[in-house]
Amino acid sequence: MSAFSRKLIIWHAHAGRHDLPWQQQPSPYRIWVSEIMLQQTRVPTVLRYYPRFIERFADLASLAAASEHEVLALWSGLGYYARARNLHACARHLCQHHGGEFPRTAAALATLPGIGRSTAAAIAAFAFGERAAILDGNVKRILCRCFAVEGFPGEKTTEQHLWQLAESLLPAPMDATPQAMAAYTQAQMDLGATLCTRTRPDCPRCPLVDDCRARADDRVQELPAPRPKKTTPLRHAALALVRDMDGRILLLQRPATGIWGGLYSLPECQCLPAALARTLPAHAAARLQHAFTHFRLTLEVFALMLPQTAPLSLRGADGLAPQHWLAPEELANAPLPAPIRRILATLVTANR
Ligand code: ADE
Repeated sequence: MSAFSRKLIIWHAHAGRHDLPWQQQPSPYRIWVSEIMLQQTRVPTVLRYYPRFIERFADLASLAAASEHEVLALWSGLGYYARARNLHACARHLCQHHGGEFPRTAAALATLPGIGRSTAAAIAAFAFGERAAILDGNVKRILCRCFAVEGFPGEKTTEQHLWQLAESLLPAPMDATPQAMAAYTQAQMDLGATLCTRTRPDCPRCPLVDDCRARADDRVQELPAPRPKKTTPLRHAALALVRDMDGRILLLQRPATGIWGGLYSLPECQCLPAALARTLPAHAAARLQHAFTHFRLTLEVFALMLPQTAPLSLRGADGLAPQHWLAPEELANAPLPAPIRRILATLVTANR
């Protein structure tokens, strides 16, 4: 076995994480849900959502039978909602076309909605013991440091090089038992999350410290190379908190694609009928900044009471979106993006 994989597996036995909920009574379904939640999201956050999700949707069939609304509501706050829609689509696909079973190879898993190459390999290693290489953000960082890989890991050629490296470092086929593959895969994730961290790596405790080129060359802080600088554009949205005389709040379901796809959000002020828009207050009741991957968004919320009952005739693209008038107590279970939930928590409770 390569020194790399051997050292990681030995380290994982005593220093890795063995008590995560998806490691208990592991099944392809439970592993898959955890891996999708763990894309772009850290373990401590996932631990707050995973048990509730699994309790409600214990298996593929119950997830497939649920409405998208309910799936999104349980995902609300985790972000990157395309993951939840893909998860739901994948469950339905597997139930309709694969007899409710997961395919057993990384290559086949990677053809399913929301499952990329690294996630497919992780599921295949954990659930079926396949000898398959992962390459998530943590592993990229470990490899860039250990092997002094130059270039931004998100860049195509650097990423291709990292995939080759990851493949070459796998335990040799004769050593790659299902247990070894699960341990090796988890070890890389755990090392990246606990010791080989982005800002303050704990090199003295790292099992790879004697092999690490970045460490030897005193370049640990430099590697991996950062994303080439590009100023993220700043966008602005003026949203209306419209309430009717019963205190119900107007929410619009967002289009399935784009930010907050399929979630409920507040209407943009520009969509309000002109007569109503003229009655908007001059000052925002709340203001919030939110960072997306490709831009930053400033949200301003203008509060308005409506002297009539629903529905409203809205203009623009949002006018086509389904309108939902929710009572304050219904907000907790509504599929809201986290920033909108936060704004509503301050404004709506303050007004009551
Ligand atoms: N990140 C992605 N998958 C993970 C897992 N199974 N355990 C811990 N962190 C992870």
